[in-house]
Amino acid sequence: MTTPHRCAIYPGTFDPVTNGHIDIIERAMRLYDSLIVGVSAHSRKSTTFSLEKRVALMRDVCAPYANVQVETFDGLLVHWAQEKQAQWIIRGLRALSDFEYEFQMALANRKLYGNIETVFLMTREDCACISSSLVKEIALLGGPVEHLVPPSVHQALREISHA
Ligand code: COA
Repeated sequence: MTTPHRCAIYPGTFDPVTNGHIDIIERAMRLYDSLIVGVSAHSRKSTTFSLEKRVALMRDVCAPYANVQVETFDGLLVHWAQEKQAQWIIRGLRALSDFEYEFQMALANRKLYGNIETVFLMTREDCACISSSLVKEIALLGGPVEHLVPPSVHQALREISHA
């Protein structure tokens, strides 16, 4: 008997990807046969980095991981999950403040597509206070962020803060 391929998706805006997101990717890729990181094309948020740049940065970060692919998605997350035949949506949990938003989203996604399960992975303690907006704010005001983001993102942040 062959074991079914276990595929999960990790969606987000990733504007830009931080060490916190990488921590979640590394945890998730150990749990599934394949992980598809979905960079949202149409986020509720207005983004600092273009979709192309957010994808390029994410691809650079995920290049060493053999079972991780990076794609973009548009429209409903559950439609994309079905297209990819993924049964799990990965989300990272940092603090209690994430819970309400994540709970609402997980229930809405389950109502839209009953076969999908949202799996929450708890972040590493030192990543618990990182968010993409915080990192951008620190970088734009000239503060150090190299301990919070991978080198390619650090470079991209330097470019926008010196623009
Ligand atoms: N470490 C560090 N930061 C983290 C993190 C972690 N483990 N997990 C989340 N974050 C931060 C992000 O940096 C981001 O910070 P910011 O608000 O300062 O930018 C914030 O938490 C949440 O961002 P992210 O994880 O990228 O998710 P999102 O909320 O931007 O993305 C989508 C939400 C794209 C998944 C959701 O809107 C979606 O599914 N859209 C498609 C349309 C749809 O189906 N809608 C119905 C959904 S019910």
